[in-house]
Amino acid sequence: MDIEKVKVEVETDAQAVVSFHHLEEFRVKYLGRKGVLAQLTGQIPLLPKEARAGFGQQVNALKNRVTVIVTEKEKTVSPVQTEETQGVSCDITMPGITQDIGHLHPITQIIEEICSIFNKMGFRVVEGPEIETEYNNFSGLNIPLEHPSRDAFDTFYLNPSSVQTEKYLLRSHTSPMQVRVMKSAKPPFAIVVPGRVYRPDAVDASHSFMFHQIEGLLVDDGIRFSDLKGMLEVFAKSVFGTDIHMRFRPHFFPFTEPSVEVDISCFKCKGKGCSVCGRKGWLEILGAGMVHPNVFRNVGYDGDYTGFAFGMGVERIAMLKYGINDIRIFFENDLRFLKQF
Ligand code: DAH
Repeated sequence: MDIEKVKVEVETDAQAVVSFHHLEEFRVKYLGRKGVLAQLTGQIPLLPKEARAGFGQQVNALKNRVTVIVTEKEKTVSPVQTEETQGVSCDITMPGITQDIGHLHPITQIIEEICSIFNKMGFRVVEGPEIETEYNNFSGLNIPLEHPSRDAFDTFYLNPSSVQTEKYLLRSHTSPMQVRVMKSAKPPFAIVVPGRVYRPDAVDASHSFMFHQIEGLLVDDGIRFSDLKGMLEVFAKSVFGTDIHMRFRPHFFPFTEPSVEVDISCFKCKGKGCSVCGRKGWLEILGAGMVHPNVFRNVGYDGDYTGFAFGMGVERIAMLKYGINDIRIFFENDLRFLKQF
């Protein structure tokens, strides 16, 4: 074995060492039990006596050089060599650091689902302020000051400032957006309005002082009650399944005439009566009706238009859909609950 050639080979091989794996090969090749240096050492006794010392020194020097290369390389290569891990020593068998990834709150998911159903039918999604004027929340919607239906709604008023001419409150429903949109846009239009609403209700399993609603409003020429029925049917079947039936019960809302409450047949018992529907076979899902002429008058429309409106409680829809029996669970931030969605 020509030691001069080996010296050159060591340097070229050293350059090729870019990974832990290469380094192991290099080490075994030169320093291994049957490696190049062992072979060179084995040649010493075979040499003429006078050549032994000189050759021995050369072999020793080469061994030192190889050792230096190995120590240097150990600092720069790691067991798994990638661009990121170069220069870092890492144990690929260690468990990784997992990142907890969150997701949308179930209420937000339901809002998105419902809005997207109406969106496909041509409704635009708009949002309104949670702090409303008393006019938009009540009078504009044909709920006059002394009207008894205000009682259940009469809500959180804000302290009037000296510059305000209007009274402000936390909106008790998303319906005031009807007034805002109609005042600022000309029909035809169709909107859905998701958002938070506030009521002076004591918190229990089915009440919360804050919850979410989605309001719908469509205004055009010649809109009929059957248009409302058809669109609500598409909505209800998309959310609760195509095998449900719907029922429209006459009701009263000041801002619609005629007004209805809409029920779906219980998707659990298929209308037979069970614990989900309180043995009634039907579940109430929303209120709706044809926009009252007084509301059109209040926003300055001159009587040529017709339209329908509807409003639903998002928590209620979510509770029905997922069989949840306590509204408070939506607001407690309990991950055991939230992670199920
Ligand atoms: N604003 C009503 C409420 O909070 C819900 C509602 C009922 C909205 C009928 C409507 C409607 O637009 O037509 O109880």
